[in-house]
Amino acid sequence: MAVSVKNNVFSLETQNTLYQMKADEFGVLCHLWYGAKTDCCMDYLLDYPDVGFSGSPYDAGNRRTYSLDTLPLEYAGSGAGDFRIPAVSLTHGDGSMALDLRFQEYRLGKGKYSIPGLPAVYAGEEEAQTLEIVLKDVASKVQVVLKYGVLEAADVITRSAVIINHGKDAVILNRVHSLCLDIPGGDWEWVHFHGRHNMERQAERMPLIHGIQESASTRGTSSHQQNPAVLLCEKTCTEQTGFCVGVALMYSGSFQAQVERDQLNQVRLVMGIHPATFSWKLASGESFYAPEVILSCSDRGTALLSQRFHHVIRHHVCRGKYALSSRPVLINNWEATYFHFDEQKILEIAGQASKLGIDMMVLDDGWFGERDTDCSGLGDWFVNENKLKDGLQGLIGRINAMGMKFGLWFEPEAVSEESRLYREHPEWAVQIPGRKPVRGRYQLMLDLSNPQVVDYLYHVLRKILGENHIEYVKWDMNRSICDWYTAALPGDRQGEMPHRYILGLYELLERLNRDFPEVLFEGCSGGGGRFDAGMLYYCPQIWCSDDTDAHERTFIQYGTSFFYPVSAVGSHVSAVPNHQTGRSASLKTRGIVAMAGSFGYELDLNCLTEEEKEEVSEQVRRYRGYQELIYNGNYYRLSNPFADGMAAWAWVSADRKQVLVQGVVFRAAPNTLRRRLRLTGLDGQAEYKAADSGQIYTGAALMTGGILLPWLSGDDAAFEMYLTMA
Ligand code: GLA
Repeated sequence: MAVSVKNNVFSLETQNTLYQMKADEFGVLCHLWYGAKTDCCMDYLLDYPDVGFSGSPYDAGNRRTYSLDTLPLEYAGSGAGDFRIPAVSLTHGDGSMALDLRFQEYRLGKGKYSIPGLPAVYAGEEEAQTLEIVLKDVASKVQVVLKYGVLEAADVITRSAVIINHGKDAVILNRVHSLCLDIPGGDWEWVHFHGRHNMERQAERMPLIHGIQESASTRGTSSHQQNPAVLLCEKTCTEQTGFCVGVALMYSGSFQAQVERDQLNQVRLVMGIHPATFSWKLASGESFYAPEVILSCSDRGTALLSQRFHHVIRHHVCRGKYALSSRPVLINNWEATYFHFDEQKILEIAGQASKLGIDMMVLDDGWFGERDTDCSGLGDWFVNENKLKDGLQGLIGRINAMGMKFGLWFEPEAVSEESRLYREHPEWAVQIPGRKPVRGRYQLMLDLSNPQVVDYLYHVLRKILGENHIEYVKWDMNRSICDWYTAALPGDRQGEMPHRYILGLYELLERLNRDFPEVLFEGCSGGGGRFDAGMLYYCPQIWCSDDTDAHERTFIQYGTSFFYPVSAVGSHVSAVPNHQTGRSASLKTRGIVAMAGSFGYELDLNCLTEEEKEEVSEQVRRYRGYQELIYNGNYYRLSNPFADGMAAWAWVSADRKQVLVQGVVFRAAPNTLRRRLRLTGLDGQAEYKAADSGQIYTGAALMTGGILLPWLSGDDAAFEMYLTMA
């Protein structure tokens, strides 16, 4: 059994890991262990130092060494003697704020719990177990139900929390984190992913300072600037060795991950909805559900940790027809035309693409309303007949006749003031009465916390998708949200709006997923501004970045790969000089970098030379040949682009018989040796044959001596090597 309970010790075992906690003699739920299996009760690690100014709960009597301020707690309350970051804090009806949580009972069930209105890891009855631990406040009638999903084969634990108010008076929730993870000993660093528009998920590994560090967003989206996934690593942890823990929040709104190193060098990690833009009035009898966190750990470095996340996201988060199957190779017209196109132009691009073997034409922004620039038209989801004279049906018919699928861009959550929708429903835009709203990319947001708006959008989108043969939707969202106010809630509940917005978004996506199971949804937010495990539940791929420069992309895709599978990463070959940076990389380099993702093109193929067109069609063929390996193989980062002057990565098939190595060396250098690249994850005993040279190596040689990269010329020169077990 994955979960066992003995003497109030809860052991959650997966194939290779153990998560353990204990309700002690005072009913305090102490965290004991998360790491490799030990076959042991780890409560001997609990220590009771005599620390000045760390008080004791009243019921501990004269035991002055018993303090909530020093014990590793499973889910920290607040205002009751633990002075570290709380997991939960609330205001009771009388205005007091203490919450002292003690064990009440537990429940064990088959299968994996789900969460009303929120995305959550799913698993079959036999694949997972659910443990619920009920904690209750010592004085009030507030309960906290901690939920644990144990996915044994996947080496994954999920966590979530439900706050229930059994009292008579309403309570105000000020902070409800989904995760609290206390790690008593060790020398830790953490990795978080920061960035900006056009430069998402830059991996940054930092020592832990005494005090609090955080990675967070208050933008109403999970954001370009920080990503809701972080790692804690032992200082000595590398890609292949050492211990690390990863946590990823399944949430697409404002979030907060905080790491605290306390006075005793103990580490606490909390993660959940950002409290700065959150408060929630929980009336008598009501429950509040926190979003889910996915956890995994590895005692063999970060590569294995990433592979576990890739697996769980592909098999237990992404859903629908395309969760596991190959995605169509697409061509998108955005960088080819921006807003300036007509049917003829789109047909020319599609026509050339179909000749080169591309599967799907995606029509991006500008096809609707009066959308000739980004100043107008959002919200008016009816066709712009100046551009598409025969409407969507005419265009799609012609594209389908070329043997191509058709996909369409939407930005359903936004509205332009210059639009019919805004003129009819200004009250649906997010803004505060009496204040001028902040504009982002000239636009406002629609109030998705209002069920009426969600219904409206659902009917509009359902009609378009129902009446037209649309096989893919790019779901965009192009600004950060502020000016939180909704007429749909009373004054004392306005703090609920940011979370209710996300619930509205999920509701809308859920209904459309259900109605159109054949449609491939690709998420997008100015590129990868909402790249998180929550969105991946509805959209199995997400446009990784608006930066299509191959050099920059190697850094962005490196950071993205720590948690998110390659199949989730929308990645396109675009024109040179690159529109974001002005840099020119070869078509070969652009192709290889885009292949480390869900592959496509974003340029006018008619502008290419005949030779380049041939190269494109060869790239499409090659990608198709490798796609199974790229999607299902084990992914390895073979270099750190921030330190090594190159980006290199590889996939090794599960049976270790096929290996695809790719990468980019950033700067050319004269009079130098060829670079050596150590592979990993191979069978050391087996022999491998390189497809291009026919040379045979042992797996052991490739993993220790490494492979010599080919002679490369020019900056940002890409390489690719394919090997099979001989
Ligand atoms: C965002 C997206 C782009 C493109 C434009 C269209 O920036 O990330 O890919 O769709 O919007 O306006």
